[in-house]
Amino acid sequence: MSKRLLSLMLAAVLALTLVVPALAQENEPSGEFEIFSWWAGDEGPALQALIDKFEEMYPDVTVNNATVTGGSGVNARAVLKTRMLGGDPPDTFQVHAGQELIGTWVVADRMEDLTFLYDEEGWWDKFPQGLLDLLSTDEGIWSVPVNIHRSNVMWYVPANLEKWGVEAPATWDDFLAMCPTLQEAGVTPLVIGENWTVNHLWESVALSELGVDGWNALWAGEKHWTDDDVVAMWEKFGQILECSNINEDAATLSWQQATDKVINGEAAFNVMGDWAAGYMVTTLGLEPGEGFGWQPSPGTQGVFMMLSDSFGLPKGAKNRDATIAWLKLLGSREGQDIFNPLKGSIAARLDSDLSLYNTYSQAAAADWKENAIVGSLVHGAVAPEAFSSEFATVMEIFLNGYNAQAASNAAEAIAYQAGILK
Ligand code: GAL
Repeated sequence: MSKRLLSLMLAAVLALTLVVPALAQENEPSGEFEIFSWWAGDEGPALQALIDKFEEMYPDVTVNNATVTGGSGVNARAVLKTRMLGGDPPDTFQVHAGQELIGTWVVADRMEDLTFLYDEEGWWDKFPQGLLDLLSTDEGIWSVPVNIHRSNVMWYVPANLEKWGVEAPATWDDFLAMCPTLQEAGVTPLVIGENWTVNHLWESVALSELGVDGWNALWAGEKHWTDDDVVAMWEKFGQILECSNINEDAATLSWQQATDKVINGEAAFNVMGDWAAGYMVTTLGLEPGEGFGWQPSPGTQGVFMMLSDSFGLPKGAKNRDATIAWLKLLGSREGQDIFNPLKGSIAARLDSDLSLYNTYSQAAAADWKENAIVGSLVHGAVAPEAFSSEFATVMEIFLNGYNAQAASNAAEAIAYQAGILK
């Protein structure tokens, strides 16, 4: 054997030893794989479609679609916490981009850094920078976003409004002015549901009354809850609630059941995230614009209050290979365009094929590009869990007598405790 051939062979062996470990890091996934979320029942079709695709791609994986029912993750988050702290993480789990991810699981060192995956998949310029920022710390990037949902949307049925002689209100004052007309017609002006949906309404009212700068300043620790405009906002919120079903059946209604009341004409309006569009189109089979209408919640025209569902790789995941394969699908253009047209959300990616989406989602996508963007409190974007979970107490204090000053004082105290105010 010539020296040259020998050195070529040696070089080839060396190259192989370098390549093989890189390949071995990502084995063809197989075995049990658990995806944990709160997308149960009516909320399930979009996730199921993605799982169907995943199972087609990886027939050796058995997916356990583990869901804990309860809108906005109220119950799922508690179960997740018990499991994570007990050393039994799911292989991957739904988590909101922003503080719910960073302030809870990243600071506790429970997630793997996904920089390698973003590098490998070339994702750095595929998502908006603002969204990547919500998923990142100086140390890395911690989950893969599957969607963008909008929180500040008001829903109604156009034909019903016409029948009652009202128009979708541009401001909350307009809404308060039409409230008696609707009540006299035997219609609930604004329908709400179980506790978290009251908070959901609140964030739209707060955005309207405080504006983009005021809202952002609250979370940056640059504004006090005891400021006059915040106290006045609580007062306005109380007046709005007087035009709702809060003292009737609200506590017994899921967000879907509240939406049903708009559709069947028992109620005129509902403020809910655009998963409601997913429900009305995918589950109820309604046509956007005919079966239901929408507009930004009153006083928030030109502002898009966003949230994003994402999935990550918890440290100690039993089926790491399957999780990585799942995240790749989730972050791909194809994956996002399978999931989002059914979910009511738009793709987190910048290159999705909008022709696959209905007219509601196309309008949301246009607003996402053009509007001022702010983050949702209720859906994990802007405040650490120490604040957002305690916000329920603030709301309880408010609802117990509609005392605006008491609610502001309580929120101020919690903002200090959570480190937002210093
Ligand atoms: C949000 C979540 C949405 C939808 C909604 C209602 O927190 O981001 O995807 O599931 O809750 O449950």
